[in-house]
Amino acid sequence: MSVDEFVKKYAVDRHHTNSLKWDALDERFGNPDLTAMWVADMEFQEPQAVTDALIKRVQHGIYGYSLTPDSYFEAYAAWQKKRHNIDLKKEWLTFDNGVVGSLYTIVNTFTKPDDAVLVLTPVYYPFHNAVNDNGRKLIKSELVRTDNHFEIDYDDVERKIVENDVKLFIQCSPHNPVGRIWTADELDRIMDICQRHGVLIVSDEIHQDIEIGERKFVSALSIADGRYQDDLIIVTAPSKTFNMAGLLNSHVIIPNQKIQDQFLAGKKRFNEVDLSVLGQVAAEAAYRYGEEWLDGLLEVIRYNYDQVRVTLNREVPQIKVAELEGTYLLWLDLRDVMPADQIKDFIQNKVGIAVDYGEWFSDYGLGCVRLNLATDPKFVKAAVDRIVADLK
Ligand SMILES: Cc1ncc(COP(=O)(O)O)c(C=O)c1O
Repeated sequence: MSVDEFVKKYAVDRHHTNSLKWDALDERFGNPDLTAMWVADMEFQEPQAVTDALIKRVQHGIYGYSLTPDSYFEAYAAWQKKRHNIDLKKEWLTFDNGVVGSLYTIVNTFTKPDDAVLVLTPVYYPFHNAVNDNGRKLIKSELVRTDNHFEIDYDDVERKIVENDVKLFIQCSPHNPVGRIWTADELDRIMDICQRHGVLIVSDEIHQDIEIGERKFVSALSIADGRYQDDLIIVTAPSKTFNMAGLLNSHVIIPNQKIQDQFLAGKKRFNEVDLSVLGQVAAEAAYRYGEEWLDGLLEVIRYNYDQVRVTLNREVPQIKVAELEGTYLLWLDLRDVMPADQIKDFIQNKVGIAVDYGEWFSDYGLGCVRLNLATDPKFVKAAVDRIVADLK
């Protein structure tokens, strides 16, 4: 499906639908008329098969406590195998009502107050919150930028793990907000450091399906023939791929039985929840029938990325556009074009968009912004044109 066809078929105006992204602009940014390019949420309707499956379930008219059918696992495992060559075992999979909630449970279950938890910054800010809100110590290892590409500083990671006696590492893979899809070698290297120092690894793979460039996503489950599976928790969900965060269905994949038992016991204590009936109906239909839709969506994101990259590199090369390998979230570094304290005024009052500001992800992110590209190309074009008109 071409970009035009996809947009024509699926793009919708989300104003006045209680959409956080669009209807909280006044509350969050002080201006309801901005174009929303912030939170990781899209303007595209689900594949028709998802809507049909939901309608069928809704017509039953009862939403009581439910079970997960075997067909859910079959559809999910087939998707993981086909798209990522992951051999998923049914007994590894448990459910939750959201990835961030799982992170809170994991921090509470596997660490004690004041224990140290490592993240690679800049990173999705709820990672910071899950550590800070629970009274644990947040240890940050800043990613190193070379040109527009970010890498892990392994020496810094190992030194910080040893110095702080780190107990847990929360990895973002692919990495929000700098757009990296980590290579198998990179994952092997950082997980080896964790394993040697007895650090439990949590890999948040929620953006696994959003592959933009040539590089394919590799799950932490597959690295070194599964060598890390006994020290590993994967948190993930269909909610970024198919934009169904409001349906509250997520996955926690834990190959090691003892760790899984501990997690489930922790969930009972900290966040005992039931599964989301509609979330599972929607996700199963998406995994079964949503491939063509996803491939169309990826073309739109690639098109939008090219619009920003090519135009800014040509017209305002001082703005550094991060290489986008994975996720639909693009990191722009504006530090060479204006002082950090002018960025908010520029973005909101001149460009007229709402974005996530870099300092939300790391102190070093000050002067950068994160742009959401999973949207109608007309919004991206208008934003880029206004950036260029104002700065050139
Ligand atoms: C890395 C990452 N993890 C988790 C989430 C949110 O997951 P959930 O809505 O299931 O809590 C997001 C949303 O943008 C994300 O980028």
